[in-house]
Amino acid sequence: MAKRVRTAVFPVAGLGTRFLPATKALPKEMLTVVDRPLIQYAVDEAREAGIEHFVFVTGRNKGVIEDHFDRQFELETTLEMRGKTQALDALRHDLPSAGRTSFTRQQEPLGLGHAVWCARDIVGDQPFALLLPDMLFKGVPGVLKQMMEAYEETGGNVIAVEEVPPSEVSSYGIIARGEGPDTGFAITDMVEKPRREDAPSNLMISGRYILQPEIFALLADQPKGAGGEIQITDAMQTLMRSQPFSGVKYQGTSFDCGSKIGFLTANVAYALDRDDIREGFLAAMNKLNFGQQFDQPSRSNRTAAE
Ligand code: G1P
Repeated sequence: MAKRVRTAVFPVAGLGTRFLPATKALPKEMLTVVDRPLIQYAVDEAREAGIEHFVFVTGRNKGVIEDHFDRQFELETTLEMRGKTQALDALRHDLPSAGRTSFTRQQEPLGLGHAVWCARDIVGDQPFALLLPDMLFKGVPGVLKQMMEAYEETGGNVIAVEEVPPSEVSSYGIIARGEGPDTGFAITDMVEKPRREDAPSNLMISGRYILQPEIFALLADQPKGAGGEIQITDAMQTLMRSQPFSGVKYQGTSFDCGSKIGFLTANVAYALDRDDIREGFLAAMNKLNFGQQFDQPSRSNRTAAE
């Protein structure tokens, strides 16, 4: 039986240059989609999948992420005094329990592979989930939970994938698909940010992984790859020689919140999904008179396997 995945790693050290000046002092992971920070969505997704320990690989200027996952007694007392029990319960519910978060720093921006490697001592010799908070997924159940179901069958390493237009393959890690259904198929190759003509498919690595701890030893010696950075995809490609990798083409919709368009689209989609916001928001949007009436949630984001 596959060893249970209890720990998740969240690389949150990135500089967020695409969102300057918003991210000059504010970590990009704290940017909000409606009223929840991106990092909270990723943590929620991990908790839903049964994760118990949350490891954040942070960097300079990221202290507020640690504060976000702490109690705020003054705020709680005020909410309590004002009888705002719903807001108070929601805040408490969002918090992993005491002792279940760890923070370590990536001291230099050497790439995603290096950020993951920085978590090696905390994760130890056990399988772990890796979630890139830039990628936001709307789906029931969440993507990591869908992957856990595959992992229970296959063990080994699992990666979530989705189709992208061929013009976008050079922005992502891309896999080659082997035998098996969408819920768990063999991965036969992978490459980080290939040129369009070199891409083995148009299935992008979506920013959700279940990995075996042997990846850490490979990352320790991983030479720089695409963009001059130490890439997790390159280390996974080496690990493929000795361990199985499965792909899950998940059910749901993804938003690449590392891009302005993806981030703004996510805000619209999540706002339209909220009973307390939808009506007022639609009315306000229609008042802006874009020459088109808004009455359906936007479909300009990607919908995978729906
Ligand atoms: C990273 C990964 C890439 C993956 C992408 C998903 O790239 O290296 O394989 O497809 O996240 O967002 P980055 O966005 O950090 O360049």
